[in-house]
Amino acid sequence: MRQSSEIRKMPSSNGNDQGRNKDIDDKDVDTVFAESQALERASFGKIQHRIRKIDEVLLSPDRIDPHLVTLLDSNSEAVSQYQKLAVTMITTAIKNPPLKRVLITSAHHSEGRTCVMLNLASALAKSGQRVLVIDTDLLRPSVSRLLGLDTETGLSEMIREGFHPDLALKRLIPAGFDVLPTRAKVENTAELLASPDFAAMMMALDGNYDFMLFDSAPLLSSPDVNLLILHTHTTLMVVHPGKTSTSKMAKAISYLNEDSFLGVVLNRISH
Ligand SMILES: Nc1ncnc2c1ncn2[C@@H]1O[C@H](COP(=O)(O)OP(=O)(O)OP(=O)(O)O)[C@@H](O)[C@H]1O
Ligand SMILES: [Mg+2]
Repeated sequence: MRQSSEIRKMPSSNGNDQGRNKDIDDKDVDTVFAESQALERASFGKIQHRIRKIDEVLLSPDRIDPHLVTLLDSNSEAVSQYQKLAVTMITTAIKNPPLKRVLITSAHHSEGRTCVMLNLASALAKSGQRVLVIDTDLLRPSVSRLLGLDTETGLSEMIREGFHPDLALKRLIPAGFDVLPTRAKVENTAELLASPDFAAMMMALDGNYDFMLFDSAPLLSSPDVNLLILHTHTTLMVVHPGKTSTSKMAKAISYLNEDSFLGVVLNRISH
């Protein structure tokens, strides 16, 4: 069973409250309470982010996208390629820390970002890694759909309503990794991704995982990726050969930081 770490704010106290005026004490209590409330709001109330229990969801093979080969336990060449990629990532992460938060992107839509991310998550989990998938493709969220999950609460509700992460996180059985889905298209994506609350939530979740995989909108269609780059250590680019011209590909890669570029996954190649 995985361990969940906790983030706590411990009250500081000198333990000496003798000889104090009650009126001042009452005022102090109010003031301290107001200040602590403001501080909690500013940092998205890390206390609220304690992960108590993650709901376990049994995946139904009938509802999973057929191209999620590593979740469907098929014995294909693709599965062995994902296993190799997982090992490469684990090795690279050991040699070049920190390499935990991985952004998965592509130049255009429908190149297979979400499938690659979920296949990779499953391969990493099979290698004993604690993995979280976060659906930060807020314009076309599809993690729930591809996994056949019913999602009532997701990332945006957690941020906007200040919900506990454990209300939205799901542990996938038997795949062995966790997902933080997005329920529906988000209108003001930049507002959410640039918010201190989003940053605080990612920090709070960080300690629970070896890898956090972020789905994203395509590089050439949304500036959201620029915000996600700020929250991630490295980027994996998914390419569907023949779909994107070399010049568009070069343009997309130019948006990324060369030093933190992990590599390219060629998806949908035929042998
Ligand atoms: N290797 C593959 N072979 C065949 N079909 C695939 C492969 N990978 C993904 N697909 C199919 O292509 C479609 C798009 O895949 P996916 O949703 O992963 O792409 P995406 O880049 O995340 O798309 P979007 O831009 O809509 O988010 C899906 O229907 C999926 O089943
Ligand atoms: Mg997608």
